[in-house]
Amino acid sequence: MKILSVVGARPQFIKAAPLSQKLRGTHHEVLLHTGQHYDYLLSQVFFEELGLPEPDYNLGVGSGSHGRQTARMLTGIEKVLLQEKPDLVLVYGDTNSTLAGALAAAKLQIPVAHVEAGLRSFDLRMPEEINRVLTDRLSALLFCPTSTALRNLRAEGIGKGAHRVGDVMVDTLQKGLRLASQRQQSALLDRLELRPRSYLLATLHRAANTDDPRPLSSILAAFNALEEPVVFPIHPRTRKAIKALGWKARPKFRLLKPLPYLDNLILQKNARLILTDSGGMQKEAYLLGVPCLTLREETEWVETVEAGWNLLVGSDTESIMEGVRSFRPRGRRRSFMGGGDASDRILSILERFTERNL
Ligand code: UD1
Repeated sequence: MKILSVVGARPQFIKAAPLSQKLRGTHHEVLLHTGQHYDYLLSQVFFEELGLPEPDYNLGVGSGSHGRQTARMLTGIEKVLLQEKPDLVLVYGDTNSTLAGALAAAKLQIPVAHVEAGLRSFDLRMPEEINRVLTDRLSALLFCPTSTALRNLRAEGIGKGAHRVGDVMVDTLQKGLRLASQRQQSALLDRLELRPRSYLLATLHRAANTDDPRPLSSILAAFNALEEPVVFPIHPRTRKAIKALGWKARPKFRLLKPLPYLDNLILQKNARLILTDSGGMQKEAYLLGVPCLTLREETEWVETVEAGWNLLVGSDTESIMEGVRSFRPRGRRRSFMGGGDASDRILSILERFTERNL
């Protein structure tokens, strides 16, 4: 079986790593990087750490408006598909690279398989929600991480080809925990002069929080008012927005560049609490047993909220501060994302599908 995998942004490197390695064991994988993320710390470092192979193609599309970025990807992906003629195209998550991969393949009548299908925030103002809904509609195989995701698809009349397989991010997390040695963990905390469970880890990058100065200032005001040290690795789009605001961080801040996967994992594991608008970090916090405040009004990972380990605080200064002061989850953490074998399950479904259809 010849599979062409499309990746382009940081979370996709994390999701693709376990499956790519398995695919290469017995099949032919062509890896296409759209170049949506191009900074070393948002791209290359993940390939090195997670053992992803060098991409066979890098389209180097870079940044731009949604239309321009997606259009450049479409043109580039189509060209590669015509040349490589894969049996199936594999796309991950909900970025512009996901949608471009799915659309280019569907128009050439190449079956699309979507990893992390069925997630919904039910808010079409989010670029990721548009990408998810359209990609799911175009996919022949839909790999759902949770039963909620499978239910969401059924509610939209998409049942055929949908499978609940668990979350590939669990596979990567388990490997990451094996790789991050105790020595590496202590060295990182020492370097940042932090003790376990005595600091907060914050990340922020969603367009709704960064592109409008109001929620951004409100979130930053809360961060600055907190008493504990805050570790804040800053995504490039957020860095630009913060600079434009002229915000000054208090001295207890550890303002960092975007972190490699293992460093981020270590800092998550040892934090007292995580504040984030990232989907991946809400899940990782839950898996690691670290309380999470989500800086959004809704989440796709509703199970983490229902279990009592994730609290939606939005961007309001007071709600964030109150959450930091009083949120203390105690409930049991049910495993709802599978046990780390999602990539094995996906591989066997892909094999059955291609045997039947080719
Ligand atoms: C994208 C995804 C988002 C995902 C996130 C992970 C979409 C619509 N959004 O958002 O779902 O959670 O990746 O990070 O696909 N930039 C750099 N260097 C880079 C990449 C980007 O400086 O390597 C800057 C550029 O100025 C760019 C901005 O970041 O304009 C936004 O980048 P883009 O890839 O468009 O979206 P993300 O915010 O990263």
